[in-house]
Amino acid sequence: MSDAKALLKKAVESVSKANSISDLEQVKLAYLGKKGQLSLLLSQIGNLQAEERKNFATDVNQAKQQLIEAIEQRYQVLKALETEQKLSAEKLDVHLPGEAFQVGNIHPISATIQRIEDIFSTVGFEVAEGLEIEDDFHNFSALNIAQNHPARAMHDTFYFNSDLLLRTHTSSVQIRSMTNAEPPFKIIAPGRVYRCDSDQTHTPMFHQVEGLLIDKHVSFADLHAMLSRFLQLFFEDDSLKVRFRPSYFPFTEPSAEVDISAKQLGGDDWLEVLGCGMVHPNVLANVGIDPDKWGGYAFGLGVERLAMLYYEVPDIRQFFSNDLRFLKQFS
Ligand code: FA5
Repeated sequence: MSDAKALLKKAVESVSKANSISDLEQVKLAYLGKKGQLSLLLSQIGNLQAEERKNFATDVNQAKQQLIEAIEQRYQVLKALETEQKLSAEKLDVHLPGEAFQVGNIHPISATIQRIEDIFSTVGFEVAEGLEIEDDFHNFSALNIAQNHPARAMHDTFYFNSDLLLRTHTSSVQIRSMTNAEPPFKIIAPGRVYRCDSDQTHTPMFHQVEGLLIDKHVSFADLHAMLSRFLQLFFEDDSLKVRFRPSYFPFTEPSAEVDISAKQLGGDDWLEVLGCGMVHPNVLANVGIDPDKWGGYAFGLGVERLAMLYYEVPDIRQFFSNDLRFLKQFS
């Protein structure tokens, strides 16, 4: 057997043993590459006699051709095998059970605000919005709380400078709404408010829903009826006991704080849930509404306070702890 045939036999054996396309590339390089064994064999042609050269060249070239064919055939086999393996690895079994994915749920405070909005919107209140960064005028002065008014001390205010502050209550939206609309109107304004205050029932940021109704011939009896019915609907209890206790707010006269009987909710006393009153004539005058023609009532609900009672959450700070074990209970 000539050198070319012996080499071809060896090469074809290696080809059939190659188990991957990259193995096959190696074999190809070892025999057919620039420094491959068949290429080197051909370069020995110069050592031969002239009459031997032709046969030698033919043998080597035939061997080369046969090896190329063998490699190509093996390549097709390996390629088909690889495709088959890939397909079976990526096979989709539509009968397998799906992977459960986690769905979030509405935060209990957002859900409470939504419920409050739903109840008031059934009797025609429209939702209004204000600003969280307020000026002294909208948060205090226009609400009849002058510069040195002692009521300012009731709100531990976060100030940016002598004029700008984080609003301490949603009552500032009363002023913004009354300056932008002509009476009669009725609005509720939910939103975040800020006070430098923190313990089991107070957080530095909490939510209020402000209510404001301006019309003719509005009485305290209207306010009493509206809030009593609201609280019964909110707590889904038609016999809920509601108590109006005389109080003081500079922007309402008369003013009251409203308690509900915590006994019915599992507690042992009355619990304050909101402040309210008849809009003070000075406030109407401050926004250009004639207090002799128009009057109305306003109220401010503490959303967390209502949510704590409704969901029986003992510590207000849990609402803002971002603890998924707590939040998932409301899904
Ligand atoms: C006010 O903020 C008045 N603007 C409410 C009002 C509006 C009266 C319109 C009259 C007319 P007060 O400071 O009491 O009032 O707050 C109202 C409610 O917010 C409280 O009843 C309480 O439920 C809640 N609240 C007050 N401070 C905090 C706090 N730090 N954390 C959580 N809730 C609070």
